[in-house]
Amino acid sequence: MKKNFYITTPIYYPSGKPHMGHAYSSILADIFARFKRLEGYNVHYLTGTDEHGLKIEREAKKNNKDTKAFCDEISVKFKDLTRILNLSNDDFIRTTEERHYKSVEEIWNRLIDSKDIYLGKYSGWYSISDEAYYEDDEIIEENNKKVAKSSGSSVDWVEEDSYFFKLSKWGDKLLELYKTNPKFILPASRRNEVIKFVEKGLKDLSVSRTSFSWGIPVPKNKKHIIYVWLDALTNYLSALNFPDTNDKLYKNFWPADIHLIGKDILRFHAIYWPAFLMASKLPLPKRVYGHGWILSDEKKMSKSLGNILDPIDIINKYGIDQLRYYLTKEVSLGNDGNISLENLKKCINNDLANNFGNLCQRVFSFIGKNFKGKIPKKIKDNSIDKSFNDEITKDLKSLIELMDNQDLNSYIKKVVDFSFNANKYFNDNEPWSLKKSDSERMGDIVSSITKQILNITLLLSPIIPKTCEVILDTLNIKKEDRIIDSIKKDVLNYDVPIKKNEILFKKVDDDS
Ligand code: MSP
Repeated sequence: MKKNFYITTPIYYPSGKPHMGHAYSSILADIFARFKRLEGYNVHYLTGTDEHGLKIEREAKKNNKDTKAFCDEISVKFKDLTRILNLSNDDFIRTTEERHYKSVEEIWNRLIDSKDIYLGKYSGWYSISDEAYYEDDEIIEENNKKVAKSSGSSVDWVEEDSYFFKLSKWGDKLLELYKTNPKFILPASRRNEVIKFVEKGLKDLSVSRTSFSWGIPVPKNKKHIIYVWLDALTNYLSALNFPDTNDKLYKNFWPADIHLIGKDILRFHAIYWPAFLMASKLPLPKRVYGHGWILSDEKKMSKSLGNILDPIDIINKYGIDQLRYYLTKEVSLGNDGNISLENLKKCINNDLANNFGNLCQRVFSFIGKNFKGKIPKKIKDNSIDKSFNDEITKDLKSLIELMDNQDLNSYIKKVVDFSFNANKYFNDNEPWSLKKSDSERMGDIVSSITKQILNITLLLSPIIPKTCEVILDTLNIKKEDRIIDSIKKDVLNYDVPIKKNEILFKKVDDDS
């Protein structure tokens, strides 16, 4: 029986059109989803939009739109982006859907039943932009305005009736969770941040608002709207048809294997969410991975700073796999990373066009010219070829481990090295010089390099799926053989000539 794997992205606020930061989270989750499918897992990959709360209500008003109509309009842009980014998501959830309401109401009722919710009055700081409450010591003054230290977003003083969640009572349980599951929060630096925060002591959390109406009403007290984060986090369950815990989706996929998120929303996922779940007597997700920010001009990309790089513009100009590869290779996953067009172009030329793309092109045209397009079958396995091909098979276990720990940068570095070595192998062994003297050896070299190209392609396929599909089609690899297990087998097709293919990665000029 296939093993299951459930991965989620944050659900995005449809407050403006999607930007590179959103694309980044979604591409990363897609890479891990595709890798697990390659390993043979039954994968469920979820993304979507987070549509309630004051932030969205205000944004709709600013645009003179009915709030739901505004959400419909922008949510479509996020949905379109899943196609443009070539995401393999299995579902796209919107928090304005009926299935989500049912799920949030059930969580609320469970929290009431467990006596984790009480009615009180909230007075404190609130940031609409972050949809977050802040303590006094988290606020600083900037240009005569109070802002949250962590995000720089402005905050307002709020006083209103509110339901509270007894977060304070869950501190020890949370610390125990982090201790007994050291990989619950990754990377480790993020884990330490969270532990320090929880160790300081947690205050009860306001989980309802009465000053606006755009959200899910509290069951039995419609004056209150459920806090948008309690609402939003529950999406991970709603998409599995919770509260029907007998549903196949829920049974297969809860608890989630990874919530992949940006570091800005770690507190919600690593503190509030497990506390809500424990109080609701539900199993906890296995991991929360907080990636760093994509920076443009060394600053976080955001609408308010006006430094947004539009992923769609870049894809139209350079291609989707080029963008996916660049973000994976250049940005260190756990840390912030600056991106620039200049570096993107360098990366396309050096890694994709000159290295991997060129390797495929050279070998495929060599097969076309010298073997009538048919991959030659290996006749003699000599030790040079064997150790060359073994490079990947020997490393396979550790490559899988790297991906299991979301160490994407080390993974890709290894794969790029394989490609670099493959180019070297082809150059050093000069099969073209053996045409007359030793055609058998020439065939064996080509057979080995083609096998290596196939293996590298399989390993790269979660990262640059579109191009890898072209290569696998060129080599006539059967659909069912496009899996990681094929790396250790011979699945090359020797009977049918390889297909002609276009240049895989065009070089880009400095001024393009
Ligand atoms: N709606 C909430 C998430 C709810 S999840 C239950 C939210 N939405 S958001 O649209 O503001 O941002 C979502 C995510 O986008 C961030 O957590 C992060 O993953 C990603 N990014 C947004 N800007 C980013 C960068 N500049 N860089 C990298 N990712 C960032 O928060």
